Amino acid sequence: MKIGVFDSGIGGRAVAKRLSELLPDAEIICVDDHEHVPYGSRPEEEIIQLTDTAIHPLIDAKCDAIVIACNTVTTVAITHLRTEYPDMNFVGIEPMVKPAATQTKSGVIAVLATPVTLASHSYKLLKETWAEGVIVLEPDTTSWASLIEAGKADEVPIEETVFQLIEQNVDIIVLACTHYHWLKERAVTEAGSRALVLEPSDAIGSRIISLLGSESV
Ligand code: DGL
Repeated sequence: MKIGVFDSGIGGRAVAKRLSELLPDAEIICVDDHEHVPYGSRPEEEIIQLTDTAIHPLIDAKCDAIVIACNTVTTVAITHLRTEYPDMNFVGIEPMVKPAATQTKSGVIAVLATPVTLASHSYKLLKETWAEGVIVLEPDTTSWASLIEAGKADEVPIEETVFQLIEQNVDIIVLACTHYHWLKERAVTEAGSRALVLEPSDAIGSRIISLLGSESV
């Protein structure tokens, strides 16, 4: 079974790494758009057009499913992709607002995402639907994807950010940009038992199994 993974940059590889552990027999092909990353502050129309061009190798490879391992692209472009390529199974990701809002005990959660994701209509809808009465903090992480892409993840102040969020009573932190999956270990270490760090790789694996059947992957 062939699974394509698309992201603007190396966030896709973090997701692919976990998928290859969950689905060891699947062939996983990763494609990114290194030339144009980051996408997270670009106009929506441009993100749609860049994605449509960059994703072609995966369409041509006749993947059984393509994971859009990018919150930003899922948010603004997945409807377009599904219309453009109606025979393809697209698996998108979205910020884990629902599980965070369901599990919080303090009533304060944090979502770490790109400016485009945070400003999107679909994210607003997620909050309205699932997080009514929950305080959602959204710290500015605009520079993080570029730093991580440039191999400078150690310059991202994740410990400081997690510390400040916990000071504000946050008990669930959602990594809603796949680039930030590379910061997960550091975030979890800093959070200790005070906050839970969520990201969607395992949920993507389950979605693929339910879509394609466990035997085929
Ligand atoms: N990895 C992408 C995401 O999940 C964002 C990185 C970018 O800004 O291109 O949103």
